[in-house]
Order: sequence, then structure tokens, then C-alpha cells
Amino acid sequence: MTDDQLLGLDKAHIWHPYSAMTSDTPVYPVASADGVRLKLTDGRELIDGMSSWWCAIHGYNHPQMNSALEAQLQKMSHVMFGGLTHQPAVELAAQLVALTPEALQSVFFSDSGSVSIEVAMKMAIQYWHAKEQPNKQLFLSIRNGYHGDTFAAMSVSDPVTGMHSLFSDTLTKQYFVDAPGCRFGDLCTDEDIAEFEQTLRAEKDHIAAVIMEPIVQGAGGMRFYSAEYLRRVRELCEQHHVLLILDEIATGFGRTGKLFACEYADITPDIMCVGKALTGGYMSLAATLTSKDVSDTISQGDPGVFMHGPTFMANPLACTAALASLKLLLASPWQSEISRIEQQLKTGLEPCRTMPAVQDVRVLGAIGVVELKNPVDMAVIQPLFVDAGVWIRPFGKLVYLMPPFIIENKDLEKLTSAVVDIVSKLAS
Ligand SMILES: Cc1ncc(COP(=O)(O)O)c(C=O)c1O
Repeated sequence: MTDDQLLGLDKAHIWHPYSAMTSDTPVYPVASADGVRLKLTDGRELIDGMSSWWCAIHGYNHPQMNSALEAQLQKMSHVMFGGLTHQPAVELAAQLVALTPEALQSVFFSDSGSVSIEVAMKMAIQYWHAKEQPNKQLFLSIRNGYHGDTFAAMSVSDPVTGMHSLFSDTLTKQYFVDAPGCRFGDLCTDEDIAEFEQTLRAEKDHIAAVIMEPIVQGAGGMRFYSAEYLRRVRELCEQHHVLLILDEIATGFGRTGKLFACEYADITPDIMCVGKALTGGYMSLAATLTSKDVSDTISQGDPGVFMHGPTFMANPLACTAALASLKLLLASPWQSEISRIEQQLKTGLEPCRTMPAVQDVRVLGAIGVVELKNPVDMAVIQPLFVDAGVWIRPFGKLVYLMPPFIIENKDLEKLTSAVVDIVSKLAS
């Protein structure tokens, strides 16, 4: 197929994320990817600044990942999980239990981050049902959050960016408070947590769980908030008998500088969701982990089972990819790699701070954010990045980098220079 044929068929028949079928915004055909480079079909190579949306932490076409998957392929690519089990799932569950906070002991595998959120929310509702408190069916979340695109996940994501008005007759109306005003590294004052505390206190009889992203609010604004805020949320949930669900789908597996972002606050959620980098970006897989209290209460209460079971639950190939990715991550000096990337992002993006179009520059771990005063015009900015030989995909007012952990300094320098150069040309 020529590029023209490929692009013609793509345009005629395929939706892309958050796109219109009638849009003229270009998509770029990728022929292959290797290390930190995406190779386009026209021969151009782009340095990847996105890790394919937080996933590809070891880069692409990694020999150890490939050989682990090839070996598993010879055994079985998939088998149903109802009534059957297998080594990749068991080994992976054991590893996740060992790596996450100690109280998290039970693992439910699913196919994507959004589904793991649905699972977490259903678990919270079933938990209170089993405790004969069926009125606790709703959720408290913070604005600027993002938890996925399925209905329950959407209902707890930011009401404005999640376009709740569009789905108002279908979406459950949950409780929201403002996103934390205290930034990462700051203390959290009584005033910072006051709205959260008041809402929780007033509505606790209807709230099954608080759900939030720990430390980094990703797709809802790339905001980094105080660990002290999260610590106080944990205490308040305890005090008011509300479960805490932490969505570590974007933050998990080292991205923020800790293996899991909740470690910054030294807290344990009752339920935790992981996905994205879980498989090193090779396959779609997510997991919802819970404490024994949650899993035992659900299992011993009415109706005696947890009501969820996806067809591709614990897919053996995906579990194998996750095991291979964890092996690579844990054998690597990932903490020092992340702090090297963090330092270079800080230095490299610093010139943006004084540019007229820029509102804020912030860096945490391997996440570098340049927040603009106005939303970017994707049709203009995307080709500029591609012409500069980098793959950077801004959204709204955010131009950000989250490169694979294996990126070398000279390639990272190309990414930050491209941001500096292109942002400097934007009007305020
Ligand atoms: C924090 C967070 N939660 C949930 C999701 C949804 O995951 P998925 O796209 O795999 O359904 C995302 C995806 O960006 C995310 O960043």
C-alpha cells in the first residue's frame, strides 16, 4: 500500500482519539519504532517525547521484551481466565502485590486503564453493599482529574474537560471539589483541604469512595500537587469511613521518581489501579489491587462474588509483557535515570519560563510541562514538531514531554530544544 492509499483509507474509515472523521488534521504513518525513535513510512525518524502516552518506558522493539513475548507465543497467546489460571498471571500478581504498598493483597486484571477504574468503582459499591450500607453509591473526586473514557470513569473525571454537559442524562452525578491549590513540595494548609473535608463530612453517607490521581493530575491538566494534601485525604477517608481509590495508571512504574506516586505521601489506598507502563507499552493490560478487607468483605457479602469478568482477563501475552517490563525496570538504575531526565528537563525547559506565551513551567520526575497562556492550534504546531524531528503531541494549553526512561541526553536535548524553539515563536 502506498502512503497515499493508506492515508486515504485511514481518512475514509478510521476514528483517531478525540478526532472528527471530517477533520483535515494530519496523521503520520509509522512504519516501525526502535529505541526512542519512531520511523515514518517516508523515511523520517522522530525522537519520541511521549512514550506513547506514558507507556513505552523502555522504548520500542526492545530485544528482551520481544524474546519474552516470542517465547510465550509458543506456549499460548490467550486462554480464558474463568476456571483456569496460568503462570504469567500468577507471577505478575505476586510481583504487583510485592511492589505496591503492603496492605494491597488482591489483584483483578482487566484490559485497559478505564476498565480498571470501572472495576475499582464497582468494588467500592459492592464493599458497602456487603456491609449493608447500600446508600454509599457515589464518589468524591477533585476537579482537573482524568480517569478514562468509559461512563463511570468519565463521571469522576473533570466535569468541564470531560464534557459532562454532553452526557448529562446518562452520567451519574458525582461530588467534586476544586483541585488542590497547594503545589508539589508545598505544605497543605487547613484552607487548602477545607472544601474536601466539608464535602466528605456532609456527604459521607452517600460516598462509597474518594477517587483521585496521586500527586500528578495527568490528562486533566498536568498539575503536580502537595503530598501533604494526599496524606490528609487518606486520614479524612479513614475518619469518615470512605474508601480511597488511587489511580496510578499514569503515575505508576517510576514516572514521577517513585515506583508509585502514593509513596511521596507514604500512604496506602484501599484500592489502586495500574495500567499503561505496566506492560512497558507492549500490550493493553491493567490491574485493580485491593486490601484484604475490601476483597474479603466483597467475597463474603451478598451476592458472594465480585460481579465482573472480562473476556481477555489476565491475557497471558500481556502478563508476560508486564513481567518482562518489570524485570527490565527493576534491574535498571531507574531512580538515577529518572533524576537525570528530571535535571535535564528542568535545565532544558527553563528558557521557556520567560517567554510571552508561557504561563508556567514545571517538572517532576520524567515529566516536563510547559503550560501556555492559550490553547495551541494543533494544525499549526504538530507539523512544526514533526519537521523538527521530534514526536511531541500537545493538548489544550499544555506542551509536555514524558520520554522513555532509556532516552540519552543528546536525544532529550533535541526534545527540549524543539519545545524551546517552537514555543518561542508562539504569540502570547
Ligand atoms: C490517570 C489515568 N487514568 C485512567 C486512564 C485511562 O486509561 P486507558 O486509556 O488505558 O483506558 C488514563 C489514560 O490516559 C489516565 O491517564
